[in-house]
Amino acid sequence: MKLLVTGGAGYIGSVVAAQLVEAGHEVTVLDDLSTGHADAVPAGARFVHRSITEVGDALDGVEGVLHFAAKSLVGESVEKPGLYWAHNLGGTLALLDAMRSHGVSRIVFSSTAATYGEPERSPILESDPTRPTNPYGASKLAVDTALTAYAGLHGLGAVSLRYFNVAGAYTAADGRVLRERHTVETHLIPNVLKVATGERESVSVFGTDYPTADGTCVRDYIHVADLARAHLLALSACTQGEHKIYNLGSGTGFSVQEVIEVCREVTGHPVPAVVGPRRAGDPAVLVASSDKIQQELGWKAERASIRDIVADAWNALTR
Ligand code: UFG
Repeated sequence: MKLLVTGGAGYIGSVVAAQLVEAGHEVTVLDDLSTGHADAVPAGARFVHRSITEVGDALDGVEGVLHFAAKSLVGESVEKPGLYWAHNLGGTLALLDAMRSHGVSRIVFSSTAATYGEPERSPILESDPTRPTNPYGASKLAVDTALTAYAGLHGLGAVSLRYFNVAGAYTAADGRVLRERHTVETHLIPNVLKVATGERESVSVFGTDYPTADGTCVRDYIHVADLARAHLLALSACTQGEHKIYNLGSGTGFSVQEVIEVCREVTGHPVPAVVGPRRAGDPAVLVASSDKIQQELGWKAERASIRDIVADAWNALTR
C-alpha cells in the first residue's frame, strides 16, 4: 500500500516506518524534525520535511495514514497546555481534513494510556473510564473522540492504539539501530541507562510512598518492536465507518525499583538511586489488559521480558 507516516523520524514512528518498508509498503515519512531525526527515516522511504498542518500533496495517491506526529511530554503539557491542544488536536484535525479532501479513509493513531488518568482497576480495559489527569492525555483523548465522530459521519476507518510504556530498540533490515534519542530525556529506562554510561551520576526515584509493594510506581513496559508490529495489524483492521480502540502493553507491571534493579543486572553498573518527591500527575499503577487486541487482531507481545527490553536499549546505546 502507499502510506503516509507522520512523525516517522521519531522513536516509535521510525520503527513502524522501517517495518512497513520491510513489509513491502511504499512509505512517505512526513516530519517537521522538531523532535525527530532525519537519519531515523528508513532508506527505502521518501522524506517530506513538513508540518502536519501543511500536508498537502504528500497525500497524493496515499491509501492510509499512520499518525505519530505529536507533542508527548506530560510535564511540558501541564506547563504549556495551549501547545498540546494546538499540535495534538489542531494538527490532527488539519490532517483529517486534508485526508478527506484527498479521499484517504484509513488512519492508525498513536493514542496513550494517559487517556485513562488514574485507573479504578488494574489491568485497564478499553471500556474503562477516560479521565485524563494532564493536557497531554486530554488532547489525545480529544483526537480519539474526533476519530469516532469522523468514522460515523464521513466513513473514516480508524484504529487508535493506546500505548503504555514503550522502551527498547529496533535493528532495521538496513542495519540501522533505532532507539530513543530525546533532547530532554524524562523516561525512566533511558535515564537509568545514562547513569550506567556515566552521563549522569544517579537516577531520581520519584516517590516511594505509593500504595504498591515497594512504594514506587508500577508501569507496563512494552518492547518497541512488538508495539510497532501492532500498527501493521491495525492498518489491515481499518474498516470504513468504524473507530476501534486497543490497549498495547505486555500485561505485567514492574515498579520503578524493579526496573532500576534490572538495569543494574543488565549493565553491571551499581546505578545509584536517589529518592525524591513524587512527580505531579503520576498514577500509582498503570497496567494494560491487551486481551482485546490479542483476540481481535491476533497480536501478542513476543519480547515481554523486562530484561530483554532493557538489554536491547542498553546494547543500542553502547554498540
Ligand atoms: N521515573 C522516575 N525517575 C525518572 C523517570 C521516571 O522515578 O528519572 C518514574 C516516573 O515517576 C514513573 C515511572 O518512572 O512512575 C515511569 O515514568 P516514565 O516517564 O518513563 O513514563 P510515564 O509512565 O510517565 O509515561 C509514559 C509515556 C507517556 C504516557 C504514559 C502512559 O511517556 O507518554 O507512559 O502510561 F502517557
